Formats: sequence, C-alpha cells, structure tokens
Amino acid sequence: MSFISPLLTPEQLKLEKTVKLGVMASGSGSNFEVICEAIANQQLNGEVPILIYNNPDAKVKERGERWGVKTILLNHRNYKKREDLDQAIVEVFQAHNIDLIIMAGWMRIVTKVLLEAFPNKVINIHPSLLPSFRGIHAVEQALAAKVKVTGCTVHLAELEVDHGPILMQAAVPIFEDDTSETLHARIQEQEHLIFPQAIALRAQQIFTEK
Ligand code: GAR
Repeated sequence: MSFISPLLTPEQLKLEKTVKLGVMASGSGSNFEVICEAIANQQLNGEVPILIYNNPDAKVKERGERWGVKTILLNHRNYKKREDLDQAIVEVFQAHNIDLIIMAGWMRIVTKVLLEAFPNKVINIHPSLLPSFRGIHAVEQALAAKVKVTGCTVHLAELEVDHGPILMQAAVPIFEDDTSETLHARIQEQEHLIFPQAIALRAQQIFTEK
C-alpha cells in the first residue's frame, strides 16, 4: 500500500542523452544500489563516474566496488569547516564532468560552496513527507508524532536542511505495531521506487533547460 506522486510512465522518463551522476553517501547505500540497478536495467539513461563517501567503514564503499564505480573517501573529520569539505567535493565532481549530484543518504549539512557550484543540480532524499519531520531521526519523529501516514521525498537541495522544490513523494501507512526499523523498511521500499524516477525527471528538466 503506497501512493506515489507524480505518477509517471517509463515513456515520460526517457532521456535523450546519458546523465552523469555524482553520488554522495554516508551509510549503507541501498539507494545508491537502486540507482546502479536502474541504470543496468536501462530504466535510467545514466552513469555514475564517481561515488564520494565520508565514513571510512560505510557499506556503500563495497557496493560501489561491486558495481565497478570509482569511489573516493572524503572524510569530513579531516576538514576544519563544512565549506572545506564541500570545496573538495566540488573539485572531484567538476573533474568528472558531473551533470547532477545525488545525495543518497548523505548525513552532512551542505553549504553554498556546493550548492552554488551546482545550482539546482543537487538532489536529496529524505525519509518523510516534507515539510514534515526534517532533520535527523525523521522516522522516529513520525512515530513520536503518532501520525498515520508518512513517506519519503526527493527534492532539490537548498541551504535550509531538508528543504527545496519537491520532485517526487511517496506515502506509506504507519501501523500500530511499527517500530522505527519496520517503518523505515517500508519507507525505503518506496525510496527505491521513486529515487531513480525523480533523478530521470530532473535530468530531463536540465537537458531541456540547456
Ligand atoms: C535513507 O532512508 C534516506 O532517506 C536517509 O538516509 C537513508 C539512507 O539509506 N536520508 C536522510 O535521512 C537525509 N536527511 P541508504 O544508505 O540505505 O541509501
């Protein structure tokens, strides 16, 4: 049971040319993996020349290696300021001629250094129906608020955290016996459906803007 908006046909998501995606991830990387799968299945006309991760033991690194994606560790602990980390990220993505930046579970606040280098080209996924439950522990926030429906949002990133024009959302029900794990798993099923679609949608927009 879920509700996805907008509903788009594969035909509507076709891309005339290949979109180059620079992915940033901090953790498990299941969303990174579905992007790679969508490309492999030809649902998304894209390529991932580079994956940046910030935690040395993030599982996403192994996933990247399995998919043959070049991975780079930029450990935020080695940078004095958020802006310095973002500058390093910008340099890596510019060197790889990236069209769109995908924050696939990137658990750092981004600055204008990144957002101004790639204006309206940074996409974030968040496990709530924004503007509800921004910030960390969004799934727990939804449980604590005792709402009956929550979901996930893919949006363009702006300076304000978990804020910006929405590309796609999916809603899921919350059941009486849900824990944060069961609810997050239900949300992630929907994340995995909408993320590749929302990326295709934004790629189409930037290709036609050019
Ligand atoms: C996802 O559920 C994503 O929505 C969330 O992190 C998870 C990463 O999962 N992102 C945020 O909370 C950002 N505010 P993954 O590593 O399995 O893709």
